[in-house]
Amino acid sequence: MKLFLIGMMGSGKTYWAQQLAAAYNIDWIDLDSEIEKENMMTIKEIFETEGEENFRLKEQKALHELAHHKNIIIATGGGTPCFYNNMQWMNEHGITVFINEPISVLAERLAKEKAHRPLIKNLNDDELENFLERKLAERIAFYNQAKFTINSQSFSIDDAAGFLSNDIAD
Ligand code: S3P
Repeated sequence: MKLFLIGMMGSGKTYWAQQLAAAYNIDWIDLDSEIEKENMMTIKEIFETEGEENFRLKEQKALHELAHHKNIIIATGGGTPCFYNNMQWMNEHGITVFINEPISVLAERLAKEKAHRPLIKNLNDDELENFLERKLAERIAFYNQAKFTINSQSFSIDDAAGFLSNDIAD
């Protein structure tokens, strides 16, 4: 069983991966951290030296390298589902869960965490909110291909049993 958490930057993919992994005793990984380890560069450095296009190639490669894992929860990057056939690949290889948080929540969280995120690091608070609105509009068609959608207001760890239990032994 592979569980892919998808959604915008700041939606809490890593937070929920950790919470679910602890509650259900499953390993978890963060796709951005895998890319950083494999390339021995931060995401910010990859964007700065090689550009977004190369980052997306590395991201797809790191995603495909997860194929051999049996039971794992994966916190993907915000853009992961939106490039190449990544969304289709994730749906074919596991269960996808879209964490759908309101823009205002994302903007508030990200205002304090811009520095290491290359796409937003130079934006002021107003620009950040506009950027997130535009990005979500571009990306929603990909995110909506997820098998499940959750948000932190109405989701609790126990609710995950439904989408984890069926597939845990696969
Ligand atoms: C990105 C999100 C980031 C990271 C990169 C690009 C995006 O991951 O992959 O900076 O395109 O939304 P998080 O969603 O974990 O911040």
